[in-house]
Amino acid sequence: MSELRVSPGGALRGRIRCPGDKSISHRALVFNGLARGSARVTGLLDARDVQSTAGCMQALGARIDGDRITGVAGRFTEPGDVLDCGNSGTTMRLLCGLLASQPFFSVLTGDVHLRRRPMRRVTGPLTAMGARLDGRDGGQRAPIAIRGGALTCGPYDSPVASGQVKAAMILAALSAQGTLRYTEPVRSRDHTERMLRAMGVQIDEGEGAVPALIVPGGQVPEARDVEVPGDISSAAFFLVAAAITPGSDLIVEGVGVNPTRAGVLEVLERMGANIEPLDRRVVSGEPIADLRVRHSALRGVEIGGAVIPRLIDEVPVLSVAAAFAEGETVVRDAGELRVKESDRIAATVAGLQAIGGQVEERPDGLVVAGAPPAGGEVDARGDHRIAMAFAVAGLAAPGGTLVRDVDNIATSFPQFPSLLERCRA
Ligand code: S3P
Repeated sequence: MSELRVSPGGALRGRIRCPGDKSISHRALVFNGLARGSARVTGLLDARDVQSTAGCMQALGARIDGDRITGVAGRFTEPGDVLDCGNSGTTMRLLCGLLASQPFFSVLTGDVHLRRRPMRRVTGPLTAMGARLDGRDGGQRAPIAIRGGALTCGPYDSPVASGQVKAAMILAALSAQGTLRYTEPVRSRDHTERMLRAMGVQIDEGEGAVPALIVPGGQVPEARDVEVPGDISSAAFFLVAAAITPGSDLIVEGVGVNPTRAGVLEVLERMGANIEPLDRRVVSGEPIADLRVRHSALRGVEIGGAVIPRLIDEVPVLSVAAAFAEGETVVRDAGELRVKESDRIAATVAGLQAIGGQVEERPDGLVVAGAPPAGGEVDARGDHRIAMAFAVAGLAAPGGTLVRDVDNIATSFPQFPSLLERCRA
């Protein structure tokens, strides 16, 4: 179990590029692996979670040679062994949807963190489509065993705004009879819709404040090249780092700023951060920009409602920013954080307390007082985003931070420690 020590001082300057977007990287592999034909995926995130997806797709018969992936035209082959999703919830949930219709037996498993996470949100609606899935705890937890077969789809109103559930249901619908009519309470990240449409898949929109997605069954995507943008969820650590470190002036290049992901920019702006998007452009159907961030004084804000799904992975680092802001920050409607790689509400509260911050835990969020923490030791609980958030806290806390159990930074952002060093040099 490794640790990461960060001491204060040393402004962040220069230009950096964050690694490829994790959500888009998974989808580029899964959708092209399912597709007819072959495609090049450039800028793919080279980190453990995406390696888990690549390994599973290869075990199912997709070919990956360098940056080229050749799909199976809708028909995978029965894997000879269990499929290991590692720490990656996205891999497991997307594969549940993908394999529910495949006429063979497969088993999905993962590490100790993933095996604790709720899977009924996908196994439930997939079972209602006619799939046979089972798992520990009455089908709720991995390992998940799947005996694929014929599916029929219809309306499904998801109780959670989840990009993973949406992708799983759309993947299942593609090889089902009938038409999926999918709604969610708030629009979750829309990378699935964007990429599949670019692959020739028909996904229509119905009526409503959050329009239903209408996906006719019986469609096989056509392979398409993907240029993966930089991950805004990784960039967020550097945006907050520069915002709270005096003297900083940093440009993070080529960051995906898809509106369904960019809630962190809106909130940081409301907090008074100085972030300037430069050179806005579109790659592979996704908006990107270079983000220039300079140090500035921050103030506390309210974070809740419809913005939550658009910044869900950024709440830990936004909570760190809040600790160094003036005034109180309230995060609400974020109960989903309790079922991420760790219970991120509990882990963030414990982390802030451990470094001397003032924070109150709520069932669906937290309240952070703007009372700058002195620094100290934090347990990241094996969660990559908790680890990186509290590394960032060490830049502004007078005593710095020592973050333990940080190995899983490698699941999403292996270069994080070296990149942080580099832009402080
Ligand atoms: C993801 C969706 C989000 C997010 C996760 C990646 C995706 O999870 O937290 O890191 O790629 O679809 P939920 O779908 O559970 O909200």
